[in-house]
Amino acid sequence: MKELETGEVIITQGDLQKRIAELGKSISEDYKGKDPVLICVLKGAVVFMADLIRTIPIPIVIDFLSISSYDAGRGESGAVRIIKDLDINIAKREVLVIEDIIDTGFTLGYLLRILKARNPASLKVAVLLDRPALRIVDLPVEYKGFEIPDEFVVGYGLDYKENFRQLPYICKLKTA
Ligand code: IMP
Ligand code: MG
Repeated sequence: MKELETGEVIITQGDLQKRIAELGKSISEDYKGKDPVLICVLKGAVVFMADLIRTIPIPIVIDFLSISSYDAGRGESGAVRIIKDLDINIAKREVLVIEDIIDTGFTLGYLLRILKARNPASLKVAVLLDRPALRIVDLPVEYKGFEIPDEFVVGYGLDYKENFRQLPYICKLKTA
């Protein structure tokens, strides 16, 4: 069997770092004095989270959660479940969810509903990548890194069957 290869780079390491610094600046201004909790959605958002928090000089705390991926083909029964929950109680806290990519919006939609039930003071979202072409669930996203076209991408935390997460850039997969 032929090994999978990566294809064209669509967002370089330099462009990622530049944009993330801009997002960090906005977040620092907006959350000054609010002691926010930044929640990383494992595993895809881990690289984005690690770089983002190092651009934020204000006091923050971080936490992690892991969710099962839904199966779009199974409809309702495909709702996401929390596999590893937060350590921190987010009631009355200012919460910012850090996610790698928003595609259909199902994953974030379910997750936000679960977190909202815990009564945070506020609940907002920062995503690195937005692929609006396949959006089904419309969600407000306060901080967005890049809009990307309707193509599967890997790298910088994003995987194809758990591979390629370590690449320092975002690229396509080679199809041929
Ligand atoms: P959604 O629920 O359709 O919005 O999909 C979001 C989730 O699907 C993300 O958290 C990713 O884990 C995964 N995903 C969607 N598109 C891609 C991609 O192009 N590459 C890698 N993972 C993706
Ligand atoms: Mg993910």
